[in-house]
Amino acid sequence: MSDSLDVIPSGQACGATVTGVDLSQPLPAATTARLRALWLQHQVLSFPGQQLSDDDLERVTRAFGGFGEDPFIAPIPGRRHVIAVERRADERSSLFAETWHSDWSFQPRPPAGTCLYGIVIPPVGGDTLFANQHAALEAMPDALRQRLEGRVALHSAKKAYAPDGLYGARDQPGRSMVIRPSSDAEAVQRHPLIRRHPETGREGLFGCLGYIIGIDGMDDAEALPLLFELYQWQSRPEFQYRHRWQPQMLVIWDNRALLHAATGGYAGHHRLLHRTTIAAA
Ligand code: SIN
Repeated sequence: MSDSLDVIPSGQACGATVTGVDLSQPLPAATTARLRALWLQHQVLSFPGQQLSDDDLERVTRAFGGFGEDPFIAPIPGRRHVIAVERRADERSSLFAETWHSDWSFQPRPPAGTCLYGIVIPPVGGDTLFANQHAALEAMPDALRQRLEGRVALHSAKKAYAPDGLYGARDQPGRSMVIRPSSDAEAVQRHPLIRRHPETGREGLFGCLGYIIGIDGMDDAEALPLLFELYQWQSRPEFQYRHRWQPQMLVIWDNRALLHAATGGYAGHHRLLHRTTIAAA
């Protein structure tokens, strides 16, 4: 069964398109293992032409390691683990997730990956950008790397999800996504800036300014310019893959190896995707 998979690399810094598998059906163990190996190799897999219900999306998520915790965003009615990434055609609020990030990197055990399934896809815009953080580290000038080596980043959701954060009191009215700001977002977790991928062992950068709010033991006056310089490096075009969506396309990405960011350019069009989070391996 896994031999029938057809894999086309994006030709960019990461990403591959996979056909020859029907994700609406339970997967044989050999196919699951092959897909995981492809995922670790390419970091982002897209599966076009998949007719998936939320049950199917949940089953695929379980096959990739089970559900992570999704704080601050209400799940869709009747589901604990599925959230809607949605923007109505007439919506005026800021785009959700438009800055680079690794999903929920502020958690004690951040999730391995994310599944995102396209339901309503605008005819223009709405691409998702991915940035390969192994490639970014490998190409990094020694002088910058030396300033990061051994450093531990402070991760927090507070700029986004605290009551006074971007999606809190400062948010514009009329957002279709149900975001629940909370003082829980003030919590801080520590993760190394440079670390080995827990499954492949490959060194990479983990997280970026935004969910990273500082560097352990370093004054903000020094840490914030360094994090800004790092942000500019790790999101350079040569490390990127631009994903163009289709309806009925599933994308699964590895948060341990990538940053990602939503993009706009679809004002006047509806966009709806269902998202699940894959727990840490
Ligand atoms: C996300 O970060 O989960 C959303 C990505 C997107 O809407 O393209």
